[in-house]
Amino acid sequence: MVKISPNKNSLGAEITDVDLAHRLSDRDFAVVLHALARHGVIWFPRQKLGAAELKAFSARFGSLEINVANNYQEPGHPEVMILSNIKVDGKPIGLADAGQDWHTDMSYSRDIAFANVLYAIQVPRRNGEPLGNTEFADMYAAYDGLPEDVRARLQGATALHDFNKFWEEMRRRPGSTRPPLTEEQRRQKPPVSHPVFLKHPISGRTALYANPGYTIRINGWSERESEEMLRFLFEHQLDTRFRYVHRWSEGDVLMWDNIATLHNAKPDYTADEHRLIKRCQVMADRIFDGSFSHLAAGA
Ligand code: SIN
Repeated sequence: MVKISPNKNSLGAEITDVDLAHRLSDRDFAVVLHALARHGVIWFPRQKLGAAELKAFSARFGSLEINVANNYQEPGHPEVMILSNIKVDGKPIGLADAGQDWHTDMSYSRDIAFANVLYAIQVPRRNGEPLGNTEFADMYAAYDGLPEDVRARLQGATALHDFNKFWEEMRRRPGSTRPPLTEEQRRQKPPVSHPVFLKHPISGRTALYANPGYTIRINGWSERESEEMLRFLFEHQLDTRFRYVHRWSEGDVLMWDNIATLHNAKPDYTADEHRLIKRCQVMADRIFDGSFSHLAAGA
């Protein structure tokens, strides 16, 4: 039976006594699914996974996305993306700057993402301390902590999210090798709207669903009102009270819920301090279509 050890503030839980290289029983899968929705971030230490196994585990939670930029995919497994600053013969083997600021993966997509599943193969270290930590902020707590008047004003509001916002921000960083998105890539991912408050279909809790990476506008509000509110939300949601920092070890499988959290990959390591992670992105199709309604929390 899997063992769950939550953090004190309930954002984040370690899960042990499970081997993800083998298919989980329905009962263990239900426990993991509910732990993810409840704690927002979960991690499984000391795993040993090939790309096919990472893909099979991730696919239990929903359909897997093939990244729009179409680069750095695991050969034979396009759903598995390589995140790395390693170069072989002068050529990068992975995306070196993935997620290096606060954002929610795929909020720019009409069909939003449920979870990310990352498997650490190489973790940079300095003086024995891991670098390239991934930081999280709890969007249930951010919603619960909103002032009453702000919550009332945003009731029923929707906001526009744009893939190009984060992409361009990354391109402006010194040393970025990202080319501008092509017309075709922009056509594939036009800005889309989502409710500012989202009820999580598994936990039943409401989350603040806006993020500095992709959210550009509150629909129907004047530009000034929208800017002021977004500035407020972006500051509020990153309050240190709502945070957890994951310090990586090789073999960690780290999984987070993109409705319940925001995240940020800290770029505090140099080109010579190598990081290698494999990632799957799980869409929020199965959590919304009732596929898991028979899986009770304490199954
Ligand atoms: C991501 O945003 O998916 C990347 C996070 C990380 O590499 O820590």
